[in-house]
Amino acid sequence: MKNEGFSSKIGFILAAAGSAVGLGNIWRFPYLAAQYGGGIFLLTYLVLVLTFGYALLISEIGIGRMTGKSPIGAFRELCAGKKSFLGSVRLGGWINAVVPMIILPYYCVIGGWVTKYVVAMATNPVSTFHQSNSGASAEYFVKFITDPWNSTLFFLLFMLITTLVVACGVEKGIERFNKILMPALILLIIGICVYCMFLPNAKAGFTYYLKPDWSKFSYMTVVAAMGQLFFSLSIAMGIMVTYGTYMRKDDNVVSCVNHVELFDTGVSFLAGLMIIPAVVAFGGEAAANNSGPGLIFVIMPQVFAGFTGGGIVGVVFFVLVLFAAATSAVSLMETNVHTISQELKISRKKAMLCVIGEVICIGVITVLGYSVLKEVHPLAFIEKYRNMDILDTLDFISNSVLMPIGAIFTTVLVVAVIGLEKFSGQIKTGGKWRRQFTFQFCMSVIVIPCLLIVLLNAVGVLK
Ligand code: TRP
Repeated sequence: MKNEGFSSKIGFILAAAGSAVGLGNIWRFPYLAAQYGGGIFLLTYLVLVLTFGYALLISEIGIGRMTGKSPIGAFRELCAGKKSFLGSVRLGGWINAVVPMIILPYYCVIGGWVTKYVVAMATNPVSTFHQSNSGASAEYFVKFITDPWNSTLFFLLFMLITTLVVACGVEKGIERFNKILMPALILLIIGICVYCMFLPNAKAGFTYYLKPDWSKFSYMTVVAAMGQLFFSLSIAMGIMVTYGTYMRKDDNVVSCVNHVELFDTGVSFLAGLMIIPAVVAFGGEAAANNSGPGLIFVIMPQVFAGFTGGGIVGVVFFVLVLFAAATSAVSLMETNVHTISQELKISRKKAMLCVIGEVICIGVITVLGYSVLKEVHPLAFIEKYRNMDILDTLDFISNSVLMPIGAIFTTVLVVAVIGLEKFSGQIKTGGKWRRQFTFQFCMSVIVIPCLLIVLLNAVGVLK
C-alpha cells in the first residue's frame, strides 16, 4: 500500500471492496448461515450490517482520513496528551494490529484448500463427487485435510503465491485482474444459484435460508453474526483506517461506505443462496445444522457433478475463488508487514521474513490440527468449546473475542476522545448525511453494551 491516494472515488470503492470481498463471503458466511439456522442468521446479520457495521466502518475510515495514519499511529496521535483512562485508549491501536496477524495463517490454510480443489476438479472425473456415490464428496475432503503432508503442501503453496505478490509489489497488476475476475465470479455464482433452484427438494432449502425461524435464535446467533460482520467487512483490524488515509478531504465517506457494505453483503447473500439450498437438497436440514468450515468444499463439487460440463465449471469456480482469496491474503500480509516494519523500525524485507516465519509456524500447527494434533483443543477449559479444533479456535479468538474488544476501543476513541459531534462534522464535509442519526445513536447508546454482552457470552461467562 503506497500512500499516493486514489485517483477517483470509484478507485477507492473498488480497493476497499476488493479487500472486503474474499473467503469471508464465499467460504465463511455460507457455513455459518447454514449452521446457525439459515433465515434467522441472515436476518440478524442484515440488521447488524445496517447498524453496527455501518457505524464502525464510518468510524474507521473517518479516523484514517482525519489523521492520515495507520491504526497504531492514529490511536497514539489522537490520545496524545489525554489523561489516565482516555490516554490508555491508545492500546486499541495494538489490538487492531494483532488481529490480522492471527487471521493470516489460517486464511492461508483455507486458501490452500481452495488451491487443492482447483487441482482436484481439474484432475478427477466429477463423478468422484457425485451424490449417488454416497458421502464420496465429504470423504474426499476429510481424506485431504487429514493427510498431514498433502494439506501442508497446499497451505505452503498458497502462502508462496501470496508472498510472491507482496514481495514483487504486483498488487496493482492483481487489482487490474480483479476488476475482471470479480464480476466474473459474481456472474458465475448467480448462474449456479439459478441452477440450484431447479434441484429436487431445493424449495425446502430456500425456505430454510430465507424464512427466519425464531425458535433457532440465541445469543450465539448474535455472536456468530457479529464475528462474521467484523471478518467480512475487515473492520476492527485497522485495514479500513489505513484505507481512510488514502481518501481526500473532499471525498464523500458516507457514499463510499454505502457502496462497500452493499457490495460485500450482496456477495455473501448470493453465496448463501448458492450453497444452502444445495446442502438441504442433498442432505436435509440436519446436514445444514452440522455444517462447518468444509461446507463449500463438500457441497460445491456435488453440485458440479450433477450436470454435464460441471467439471470445467468447477475448475473455473475454484480459480475465481482463489483469486478473491489471494487478493485478500495479499492485503492482510501487506498490513502485517507494514505494522511490523513501522513499529520495530526494521526494513520491509526483515519485516516480511518475520511475517512469513509467523505464518508458517501457526499455519502448520493449524493444518496439523486435523491430523497429528487432532486431540488438541486449546479452549477445552470452557465447557461449550470443548471440542473446538485449532482452526476454529484461531477464528473464534480473532473474530469473536479480539475484534469486539478492538471495536470497543474504536468506539471510545470516536465518542470520548474525539467527540461525536466533532467527528460527525468531519464526516459530513462530503455532503448531506441521511443516516447521521443512526450513526450517532449506535455509537453512543448501542454499540458498547452490545459488544460487552457479545464478548461475555463468547468467553463463556453468560450462557
Ligand atoms: N474481509 C475479508 C474476507 O471477507 C477477510 C479479511 C479480514 C481481510 N481482514 C482482512 C482482507 C484484512 C484484507 C485485509 O475474506
